[in-house]
Amino acid sequence: CGIVGYIGVQQAFPILTKGLHRLEYRGYDSAGVALINTENRLNIYKSHGKVSELERFCESKDISGTIGIAHTRWATHGEPNDTNAHPHFSTDRRIAIVHNGTIENYTVLKQVLEQHGCVFDSDTDTEVVVKLIEYVYRSTGCSLLNAVREALEQVVGAYAIAVISADAPDTIIAARKSSPLVIGIADGETFLASDASPIIEHTNQVVYLRDNEIAIIKRGEPLQVITNKNEPSTIDIQTLRMSVSQLEKGGYPHFMLKEIFEQPNTLFDCIRGRISADGTKVQLSGIEDNASRFINAKRIVLVACGTSWHAGLIGGRLIEELARIPARVEYASEFRYANPVISSDDIVIAISQSGETADTLAAIKLAKERGAFVYGVCNVVGSSIARATDTGTYIHVGPEIGVASTKAFTGQVTVLTMMALAIAQLKGTISPDALRSTAQSICKIPSQIKQTLKLNDKIEQLSRTYTYVHNFLYLGRGYNYPTALEGALKLKEISYIHAEGYPAAEMKHGPIALIDKELPTVFIAPKDELHEKVVSNIQQVKARGGSVIAIVTAGDEIIPSMADHVLEIPSSPECLSPIIASIPLQLLAYHIAVMKGCDVDMPRNLAKSVTVE
Ligand code: G6P
Repeated sequence: CGIVGYIGVQQAFPILTKGLHRLEYRGYDSAGVALINTENRLNIYKSHGKVSELERFCESKDISGTIGIAHTRWATHGEPNDTNAHPHFSTDRRIAIVHNGTIENYTVLKQVLEQHGCVFDSDTDTEVVVKLIEYVYRSTGCSLLNAVREALEQVVGAYAIAVISADAPDTIIAARKSSPLVIGIADGETFLASDASPIIEHTNQVVYLRDNEIAIIKRGEPLQVITNKNEPSTIDIQTLRMSVSQLEKGGYPHFMLKEIFEQPNTLFDCIRGRISADGTKVQLSGIEDNASRFINAKRIVLVACGTSWHAGLIGGRLIEELARIPARVEYASEFRYANPVISSDDIVIAISQSGETADTLAAIKLAKERGAFVYGVCNVVGSSIARATDTGTYIHVGPEIGVASTKAFTGQVTVLTMMALAIAQLKGTISPDALRSTAQSICKIPSQIKQTLKLNDKIEQLSRTYTYVHNFLYLGRGYNYPTALEGALKLKEISYIHAEGYPAAEMKHGPIALIDKELPTVFIAPKDELHEKVVSNIQQVKARGGSVIAIVTAGDEIIPSMADHVLEIPSSPECLSPIIASIPLQLLAYHIAVMKGCDVDMPRNLAKSVTVE
């Protein structure tokens, strides 16, 4: 979910809805807004569906007011209908709240409130919080701030909230615990949001609220921040470096396509300053500053979710192969409940584009409790994961808006490759020649991706053949088994076609039974050690009437004679091939989804940043 707030001199509604559009990647099941007009009336409007539907719904309504809060929802508790949409409000409709997170003890709180005569309209955990605030406020006669503070004392779970009240029409109260909240400060105006994207066009001066802090935002007064124990907190104002153009489509029909085409530049930024000009040294300060930990590490555990987990699979293999440290790759959501054996000799690498994924944050917390050193690989600078880890490396690919991750994946794999090389260099497990040649190959990636993007038209053409297929199989070996998983995930996410990624050699142990002329198979088959084996797998598919799309190294003479469609990528060392091979897979998923008429930037049921469990 995403939240936005505004107080100042301008009309709040357009600022809030524009902010919600920027946050729609966080969820788009329903949206809502609460505004206080000049007569101190609190107006609340909400609608299921996207922010544009809320805007339509509000066309004939009183949307005046220079203070307001708004929300775009990814449903957790309760189906995405109008009632369950935020803002939620008190029984007397004088207090409104927007919330991102999950309140774990909401059923208990709800029962207690019901015993006090409280009636609930929705199925959400959030309504419980606002009714609890109202209960404290009315029964004790305290200030709204104290009512919020005391209510939050009772709450177990994760939250970023913003509260307004018709009783205090010049104040927004905001608080956070485990869910992100950024406050933007400008002259006479204050903005708040789940991340900086709704704020950047108004001001670059921001404060990241910390856990257990409450912000008191009053019209015309300096920002005040206290802890939930009512002690004053320090306010650390930071200057954002993001630009508005990074948040726009720049002439592309979709963010996803823009982000696919940005990859030569984003990877250039990702590599910049990290590989010496002669290729003899890979410099990552997070590793150099903690050299002895990496030299002595008994094991490295990589934790992540979704696409980041696929990057982790490649990273783990690289670390084990190059730096000779045993590496395990875990879904963060499984790791946190697996009671894992972790000690201070272990290094845990947490990979996350957003830096806000709740499961990954929880895995970090567990790893730290057990004494591990935790290293973050994040994209969003200053995100919760970037701050919760001991150190780390940013991938620096710029804001990723399309829900299906593309440039973040290639950035993550590139950083993990540089990390494996940097550790190997420290441990002396790689020869200077091998180091130099791999490092130089990394530097060639941006231009090789540029070359690969020329496949776009061909892929658009071939997508027509496969638009109405119901199932897809993606096969690859070694480093390209995770590439197959990622290719399948991309297609599923945005085109709703069922797709499965499998290690090519495992096909004979099951998936081969599926093969017929209705099931296309995508082979990721660059020239590498296992090329010949993959060639036999292709023959096995062809022998059963299946059609084959093959991603091959330019100049491959064998596979083109047997595959139905061939997509040639430039040659690279085996360990770097996933970065380049994923480009045609991203384009294939994109074009199929567009041809099916799917909303590629906002696929159904998904959210880009999953800040709940
Ligand atoms: C969500 C997104 C995925 C993403 C995953 C992990 O499920 O839809 O695209 O890979 O979260 O997100 P993170 O920000 O931690 O990389």
